Amino acid sequence: MRKRKLGESGLELAVVGLGTWAIGGPWQYGWGPQEDKDSIETILHAVELGINWIDTAPIYGCGHSEEVIGQALKQLRQKPIVATKCGLLWNKKREKINNLTRDSIFRECNESLDRLGIDRIDLYQMHWPIPDEQIEQAWDAMARCVEAGKVRFLGACNVSVEQIQRLQKVWPVTAVQPPYSMLDRAVENQLLDYCGQNHIGVVCYSPMQKGLLTGKFTVEYLKTMSPDDHRLLCDKDFQSPRFEKNIAIVNELKKIVAEHGKTVAQLAVAWVLRRPEVTAAIVGARKPKQIEQTAPAGDWVFDEKIVKQIDAIIRQYK
Ligand SMILES: NC(=O)c1ccc[n+]([C@@H]2O[C@H](COP(=O)([O-])OP(=O)(O)OC[C@H]3O[C@@H](n4cnc5c(N)ncnc54)[C@H](OP(=O)(O)O)[C@@H]3O)[C@@H](O)[C@H]2O)c1
Repeated sequence: MRKRKLGESGLELAVVGLGTWAIGGPWQYGWGPQEDKDSIETILHAVELGINWIDTAPIYGCGHSEEVIGQALKQLRQKPIVATKCGLLWNKKREKINNLTRDSIFRECNESLDRLGIDRIDLYQMHWPIPDEQIEQAWDAMARCVEAGKVRFLGACNVSVEQIQRLQKVWPVTAVQPPYSMLDRAVENQLLDYCGQNHIGVVCYSPMQKGLLTGKFTVEYLKTMSPDDHRLLCDKDFQSPRFEKNIAIVNELKKIVAEHGKTVAQLAVAWVLRRPEVTAAIVGARKPKQIEQTAPAGDWVFDEKIVKQIDAIIRQYK
């Protein structure tokens, strides 16, 4: 698996990282039921495939994703790089609550270390910059966690260039974590250029648009999904009329991959990695077979002809 340097950290990340939102199991934004056994096997298999880092967050399954990763880490002699987050708590109904206050961040950091069973978090990321007026307070608290030896480097998810610039005045921003896929290209407007020019790592999430860009979704498939899967409940990409448009795009992508003996999922991930500013794609998986299918995307470097074909398809369905 190819590796790229994460900003100025010295960390060398495999270009495909393992995303563990779905393996947290049910909560307000869960993905339906998940067996821990499958999750642990997926993590262990990802490492076998050359994936040397895992992204998680306390909120994924209200602590459960971090706990499951902790169990998997115990079985690994060579520990992968671990990236987790802070700033999202939950209530008794397993609904998210934004909190960027200093004491809450300190508490969260200790709790993540406990659940993961590690002494230090490699990359600690602010999950959402909400409320905006508290991002400096949270960042300063996160920097104190670095000084205390509990964290190595800091990152920020879902931030604008203006917010990155504010954080940089407090402590270096090693990496950002934005969404990026063929169906969501907002980062191309400003963020990727800024990060490239300022040596900030970029780890992109939902490169397969939560599974839409794998080729398996149809109207029939939606009917088989768990009714508590947040994609059905609140994601417009999985609802009419966007769902049908997305499927039309995927059908065009299927024609491209047929010529190359690859899958749509691999195309989606390799497409994100075509940008040199992108350090890595965070690829979610719930079963070993899924990560086995998507991981080879990390070594697929395709030519300009495919990039142009994809641009034309996306323009056609805009
Ligand atoms: N910082 C943030 O705010 C933020 C937000 C979103 C995500 N993230 C991170 O980024 C990671 C990746 O994003 P994501 O999980 O949203 O989306 P993704 O990587 O685009 O899609 C992952 C999902 O696609 C399905 N899938 C995976 N491989 C497949 C295959 N080979 N064939 C068919 N289906 C397959 C699985 O779900 P099903 O089998 O259920 O369809 C899997 O959970 C997350 O896990 C999380 O770590 C961060």
